[in-house]
Amino acid sequence: MIRLSERLQGIADGIPVGSRVADIGTDHGYIPIWLKQTGRSGYIVAGDINAGPLQKMREHMERYLEGDEEGIYPRRGSGLQVIEKGEVDTVVIAGMGGLLMIDILSEDLEKTASVKRFLLQPRNAQDKLRKWLLEQGFTIIDEKLVREGRFVWEIMVVETKGCFGTPEDNQRKIETYFQGGEVQYEIGQHLIRRKDPLLPDQIRWKREILEEIAEGACRSDSPQAKERAREIAEKLDSLERILDYVDH
Ligand SMILES: C[S@@+](CC[C@H](N)C(=O)[O-])C[C@H]1O[C@@H](n2cnc3c(N)ncnc32)[C@H](O)[C@@H]1O
Repeated sequence: MIRLSERLQGIADGIPVGSRVADIGTDHGYIPIWLKQTGRSGYIVAGDINAGPLQKMREHMERYLEGDEEGIYPRRGSGLQVIEKGEVDTVVIAGMGGLLMIDILSEDLEKTASVKRFLLQPRNAQDKLRKWLLEQGFTIIDEKLVREGRFVWEIMVVETKGCFGTPEDNQRKIETYFQGGEVQYEIGQHLIRRKDPLLPDQIRWKREILEEIAEGACRSDSPQAKERAREIAEKLDSLERILDYVDH
């Protein structure tokens, strides 16, 4: 039986039993193999834009599934192009940048809305992805943090409820998500409310990255750099207040 890393297990745990799944950017194919071995899903599309990862996945399938590959469909292509509208209930997109995820999700919004649940694990630009999701009318039903190596990664459990709402519905969803809290998209509200034990580490890590960017911005006199430095200072201030709240 394959043993998933904490990050991949954290994602796999959010996949409802019996759902039809697509793992987009599958690379090694570990999640599809785990889904098949555990019987959690009997219909798994494993998509990747590159031939190399799909080849690697096939080798892993041979090793772990010993010929029983029924129900796993490796497909080469970009994003959700490897599935038909309504073909799967759950889509995993993990280990890619948040902006690439926005591109993938926005390419065909009707197809995106036909998926009931997304498990998203962005490597960066989490704030931009979260903002985009909420503005489109997705519901972020949960967020979790998992440790892998030196890093703490964020997993978003996102549902579409079959369609995207009107601007008024979406605004209501944003207000529900923030529940009167500070509107900043950098840190998940579910994590703050739950005082997730990994959150202080995640905030400190984000703080380090922002401080490095701010240092660079301060070296330039351009108005854009000044504006960037001001934005970062605001974010740092906000992160400090969240850290103070979750640390007590
Ligand atoms: C860093 S790996 C992540 C692998 C795995 N999902 C994980 O989280 O461990 C990213 C994978 O996404 C694939 N990829 C990049 N852009 C893609 C796209 N537009 N559509 C599908 N796959 C893509 C890459 O070929 C690569 O295999």
